[in-house]
Amino acid sequence: MRSLLALPLFAVFALPAASEPAPARQAELLHLLRNDCGACHGLTRQGGLGPPLTAPALAGKGDDVLAATIVHGRAGTPMPPWVALVAEDEARWLVSRLRQGAANDR
Ligand code: HEC
Repeated sequence: MRSLLALPLFAVFALPAASEPAPARQAELLHLLRNDCGACHGLTRQGGLGPPLTAPALAGKGDDVLAATIVHGRAGTPMPPWVALVAEDEARWLVSRLRQGAANDR
């Protein structure tokens, strides 16, 4: 149990207060990021219909705004709400992954 509480060093560095989704859920969220988000933001998040979601592109933008954008979408833009699929803390985890250059995993 205690070892489960030991977050990877990079996660501690990126977002000290984040609650990490369980590993299986992390895999689902990264799958969603690649496939669903990738449809608009690009497979490698360099942008497309939606803006790039790379670490440099997100620098200077707040976690609250970005997580809220994922959960609730942006009215009047093509960015849809993901509230049915992604919880608030999961959105925050996704933002932390994006800030790490996350899913630059191919
Ligand atoms: C149908 C296209 C579409 C899909 C699918 C989509 N987005 Fe977006 N997204 C957009 C657009 C367009 C914007 C820019 C909205 C604006 O003009 O402010 C955006 C904005 C964002 C932003 C804010 C970026 C910034 O620089 O402020 C984040 C974060 C984001 N999307 C994450 C996601 C995530 C995570 C997913 C998948 C769960 C996703 N998006 C799926 C179109 C999409």
